[in-house]
Amino acid sequence: MNVKQMVGEKAAEYVKEGMTVGLGTGSTAYYLVEALGKRVKEGLKITGVTTSTRTKEQAEALNIPLANLNDVTKIDLTIDGSDEVSENHQGIKGGGGALLFEKLVANASDKVIWIVDDSKMVKTLGAFPLPVEIVSFGYKQLFRLFESNNLHPELRLNESKEIYVTDGGHYIVDLHLGAIENPHEMAIWLDGLTGVVEHGLFLDMVNTVIVGHGNTVEVLDI
Ligand code: A5P
Repeated sequence: MNVKQMVGEKAAEYVKEGMTVGLGTGSTAYYLVEALGKRVKEGLKITGVTTSTRTKEQAEALNIPLANLNDVTKIDLTIDGSDEVSENHQGIKGGGGALLFEKLVANASDKVIWIVDDSKMVKTLGAFPLPVEIVSFGYKQLFRLFESNNLHPELRLNESKEIYVTDGGHYIVDLHLGAIENPHEMAIWLDGLTGVVEHGLFLDMVNTVIVGHGNTVEVLDI
């Protein structure tokens, strides 16, 4: 069993009868959704709230009952992958482009679990490019602002080399920062920019990180 499957299946054990569960996006969350699909087939009653079209399609194919974020008053637990987790348990997400819906679902959740392999555990965030979701109208203005602040922006493209468009209909600029010494300061700055819809800094948000090391699993309760 690969490490992503191992942490995905471990996280599925946290899902109990009757829960409303946020379903993350990405190659690790994929295994969580597969494991839940199996349990639903065996009789588990849950309601899923998906974070992307990709995950929605997967969950529907597995007959996991789904609700729209508008129609739930709270989510008991959200389980998602992460691109980086710092030693202070802050995260960068959005490598898969679903950061906006992922953050909306996480914000509505009582508890958040991230599932990662140990290559994602870092001292300082920022080696992974920071995704920033921006409105398409006039996007070059923000791009130039990032350039002039030496944030090394790169407009995200899809496999066909066209501009990548998120499920929310926006563009993504990845900032190649190397290291983010003060993630909270960076988040506040980005939050204040007109045209920035959301960014991939997920701060003070996670309750448990499930880390896969080879063939063992470590559970970090924060
Ligand atoms: C999707 O936008 C991301 O936030 C993913 O959750 C994150 O990139 C982790 O993905 P992998 O499990 O594929 O590395």
